[in-house]
Amino acid sequence: MRTFSDRSMAIQPTGVRKMFDLAGDDVISFGLGEPDFQPPEVAIEAFYQAMKDGRNKYTTTAGLPALRRKIADSWSAFQEGMDEHNVCMTMSGTNALLNLFMTLVNPGDNVLLPEPYFPLYGPDATLVGGEAKYYPCLFENEFIPNVEDLEGLVDENTVAILYNFPSNPTGGTLDKQQRDDLLAFAQKHDLWIISDEVYDRIVFGDEHVSFMGTGYDKVLIVNSFSKTFAMTGWRIGYIVSTNVEAMKQVIKIQYYISACSNDAMQYAVLEAMEKANDYPDMMAREFQSRCDLIVDRLNAMPGVECHRPKGSIYVFPKVTVAGLTSEDLALELLKDGVLCSPGSAFGPSGEGHLRFAYTISQADISRGMDKVESTLKRLMQAA
Ligand SMILES: Cc1ncc(COP(=O)(O)O)c(C=O)c1O
Repeated sequence: MRTFSDRSMAIQPTGVRKMFDLAGDDVISFGLGEPDFQPPEVAIEAFYQAMKDGRNKYTTTAGLPALRRKIADSWSAFQEGMDEHNVCMTMSGTNALLNLFMTLVNPGDNVLLPEPYFPLYGPDATLVGGEAKYYPCLFENEFIPNVEDLEGLVDENTVAILYNFPSNPTGGTLDKQQRDDLLAFAQKHDLWIISDEVYDRIVFGDEHVSFMGTGYDKVLIVNSFSKTFAMTGWRIGYIVSTNVEAMKQVIKIQYYISACSNDAMQYAVLEAMEKANDYPDMMAREFQSRCDLIVDRLNAMPGVECHRPKGSIYVFPKVTVAGLTSEDLALELLKDGVLCSPGSAFGPSGEGHLRFAYTISQADISRGMDKVESTLKRLMQAA
């Protein structure tokens, strides 16, 4: 007897929450990828005020024109001349990703996806009847893909490639030359680029390198206010592209996903963009200090090698203890009071790695790293 759809049966619950579900309350948690900040106060006030002012109704599907214009302007350093027609509000980056898979991928098509990955990408491809083909982003290459690997995967059914820089889970970021190489690959094969740039405001030192403003009109950017303004629980994001024809399709699909985004919240985000535009820079400075702290501590431990990311809120060190998988290691750490994610939760080449989200205070990072160090020493002596 048929019960549920093939697409539902084809996907599994995410493994990323497994450790989280096993953890008690008293752990030091490097588990969750969400900033430990609150949204800017002006946004919270504006949200409340907007609701009091009766902004509790449907908006147009694409969202408030004033907010969309503001977002288009915020990209002007990359691309001049965009306006509200280039932007569609969504109810999160998660929603934006699903929208783009629905807009671009037919059953039988395939999409090139990074691995290790943010765990939504593959299931999104499956949900629309497409095939996920994973390209490696390896430690040896600072988590940047090789064009030769991409060339080995692309075929006549490949319609899109997804890039995610700064990356979750690896923290990998691109320089301009690397971006241009990845762009040229997509152009050569006439692929859509879905560029997940939700960490674009959490970059350290160098400017964010975007696929926006490259002159290629098959680029669709996913963004979200979850990380930018520490609004993970609000659920608001957007898609932006120079390609207005593609945006018309995106907006049509968005209607059938959510009709529109949240009315009052869009006023709150507009206020945040107008009055607290330096808020993400303040967070980025703090994340950079934490990043330096955690990288220095990890690299001083036996069996650990860690790159120093130039963005995001994650480190993805290689951690080697003979005979133990990354899940074994994460479970041992959990027993000693530290929650992190096994690299294997982000794909097979994540094996041998752990992901630490530095979304806790520097004091807690230090205490957590003391525990990691003593656990690793204990495990190595036993090995
Ligand atoms: C790379 C990446 N893309 C998209 C998202 C989705 O963000 P949200 O749905 O909260 O907007 C996340 C969240 O962790 C992420 O890390």
